[in-house]
Amino acid sequence: MFFRCSLAAALLGVAISGGAQEQVAQEQVAAQAPAADRAAGLQTAFTRAREHLRRGINASSWFAQNPRDYSAQHTDTEITADDIATMARLGFDNVRVSVDAAPLEQYPRGDDGLNDDFVARLDRAVDTILADGMAVTIDLHPEDSYKQPLRTDNAAVDRLVALWRKLAAHYAGRDPDRVFFEILNEPEVNDPYRWAGIQARAAAAIREAAPANTIIATGPNYSDIADLLSLHPLDDGNVIYNFHFYDPHEFTHQGATWGLLWWRYEHGIPYPATGSSMQELLKEIPDRAARFQLENYFLDDWNADHIRRLIDEAAGWALVNHVPLVCNEFGVYRKVADPVSRSNWIRDVRTALEADGIGWAMWDYNGGFGVAVKDQEGKSVADPQTVEALGLKMP
Ligand code: GLC
Repeated sequence: MFFRCSLAAALLGVAISGGAQEQVAQEQVAAQAPAADRAAGLQTAFTRAREHLRRGINASSWFAQNPRDYSAQHTDTEITADDIATMARLGFDNVRVSVDAAPLEQYPRGDDGLNDDFVARLDRAVDTILADGMAVTIDLHPEDSYKQPLRTDNAAVDRLVALWRKLAAHYAGRDPDRVFFEILNEPEVNDPYRWAGIQARAAAAIREAAPANTIIATGPNYSDIADLLSLHPLDDGNVIYNFHFYDPHEFTHQGATWGLLWWRYEHGIPYPATGSSMQELLKEIPDRAARFQLENYFLDDWNADHIRRLIDEAAGWALVNHVPLVCNEFGVYRKVADPVSRSNWIRDVRTALEADGIGWAMWDYNGGFGVAVKDQEGKSVADPQTVEALGLKMP
């Protein structure tokens, strides 16, 4: 309005009258208030990212990724108070707790609209993490069947927004410096403009219910760097942006039975990519097109410098947009990976992130990508090689 008035005045060659000047001044104040709020929010987000989200670990299959069993038997044993104490002793300063949407919404629901039994157990988890001095990210991490309808179905968006209203209200009472709300893990909404609208609505609902907490937002699709680069920051300043790093998937997801079909034929892929074993490893892949993709892994010369340059692009986006950034998933599936190559990759990604001042959280604690491995009794034992690659020390 101010712009239009003054532009019009300038174009017409007339001075703005006293009354009009007053109106313009009022409009300027109104326009500046949200800008000041945004700046204050940004400062909070930068401080919290720096103080609480430096070195994190993902609790992956505790309250999420296990749709067939969210019983107390599962959540009481998958990660215990001892495990949480171990995470703190290893030097992690935050835990990203993945939470499925379905059990939160399941009947019977309490006064807050969430399933009492499941949420009481989640409360205990959150409070134990906080009591051990770490921060916690409540990462809404639903199944694909919850996320994919968001691409086309506005009712699915309403449902996500309504869930956040309840979830944020439930956790708003805890220390806002150390409880973060992550809107959606890997949204799988491939239209960046539609995702921007969905994310803005969810952020507004969180903000109404939880004025003081920091929100974690992400790009569309799978939260890759390319997705982050397509994102415009939210109006809300109290937001940290997030990306995931699994490049190259041919290495990090070798042996995986999800994602691309041919990953299951891979094993023992070297990192850095050296050509010496290439011909032998290519022979294991039955499909010609897939073989070609794996061949490219070697030809692309994946090494520390390659990774560093990619992560610099994410850092550049945050710098230009003046927003804080974290990478809260990166890791290598353990099953058939060569342990030395796996550690090399984890170390290279972690040091690249740190060089750019980006806080990280490794995927995951004791799942398939773990920093810890379950022994025969089901107790999780930290793996010294992975701990070292993370720049941490065995307790
Ligand atoms: C993403 C997926 C999760 C998967 C992980 C590694 O977080 O949501 O299901 O385990 O990436 O592939």
